Amino acid sequence: MKIGFIGAGKVGFTMGKYFRTQGLEVTGYFSRSIQSAQEAADFTQTQVFTGVQDLLAVSDVLFFTLPDGAIRSVYEELRPYGIQNKIFCHCSGALTAGDAFPEIENTGAVGFSVHPLFAVSDKYHAYEELTDVFFTLEGSAAKLSFMKERLKGIGLKVKVISPEVKVKYHCAAALASNYVIGLLAFSSRLLEECGFSANEAENALRPLFGGNAEHIVQDGMVSALTGPLERGDLATLKKHLDCLDGEQGKLYSLLARELIVTAQNKHAERDYTAIKNYLIPGGG
Ligand SMILES: NC(=O)c1ccc[n+]([C@@H]2O[C@H](COP(=O)([O-])OP(=O)(O)OC[C@H]3O[C@@H](n4cnc5c(N)ncnc54)[C@H](OP(=O)(O)O)[C@@H]3O)[C@@H](O)[C@H]2O)c1
Repeated sequence: MKIGFIGAGKVGFTMGKYFRTQGLEVTGYFSRSIQSAQEAADFTQTQVFTGVQDLLAVSDVLFFTLPDGAIRSVYEELRPYGIQNKIFCHCSGALTAGDAFPEIENTGAVGFSVHPLFAVSDKYHAYEELTDVFFTLEGSAAKLSFMKERLKGIGLKVKVISPEVKVKYHCAAALASNYVIGLLAFSSRLLEECGFSANEAENALRPLFGGNAEHIVQDGMVSALTGPLERGDLATLKKHLDCLDGEQGKLYSLLARELIVTAQNKHAERDYTAIKNYLIPGGG
């Protein structure tokens, strides 16, 4: 199975190199700029293509590792060239296969979204970090099992999802990655209100966040949970809410409600009813 890449960016570099390390045949790269395509080809010891049709002609599988907004137009550009029996994949977390490759099955080809649940920031080294990464797979029913087995066969963890839940899935991914930065920014702003400079706040949060993140990764969320809510300390929780403004308090309360579930899982014997009633007046 010969695999080509349209788009020589972070994910294109990473997936191409990973496939090569697993002994798969990668034909090469087409990209908007010849420099990017050349760099990716050098990195993976594959070929540069100056025309996307030429890459199509020599590849059985094409990965569209493009910005989300460019995937569909490149697909529309390729469609007239005859794509029968080809396998098209994109890596967007937000788009379904159907969004990107509408009615692809009518052409005799199949389409998939293959999304790494991972932030790829270093295009030269991320391929070494894919061992524990989940890849969510969704797309044409005819070859779904085939794709799943092929990806599993090269050591990837694969989770098949339905197109209906793709947006919710992507929202979950954003919460666990980008939105953690939102929480840290919120925390940092409160520290600045306590007299820390922005720089001091970031430095002070580093070991707190890093130690906690490491504990979560190693031992799981339940084990890693500490703090006033876990201890059932309603008085402190009330003080926290008193020092926040209305919108901030809403966010704190919503997160606290999620934490009650985790705390209860950690301490089945503890009674968190008072906290629950305070956070969710009237039940819920
Ligand atoms: N980075 C992540 O953490 C991550 C994680 C999961 C999924 N994804 C998904 O992976 C896909 C690629 O993301 P990325 O982070 O790799 O993006 P990226 O680093 O910005 O790379 C995109 C590449 O596509 C090329 N390109 C743009 N428009 C093009 C066009 N019309 N024709 C040909 N090439 C074009 C760019 O070209 P030049 O360099 O040639 O100018 C660039 O090299 C996206 O769908 C994204 O949602 C990303």
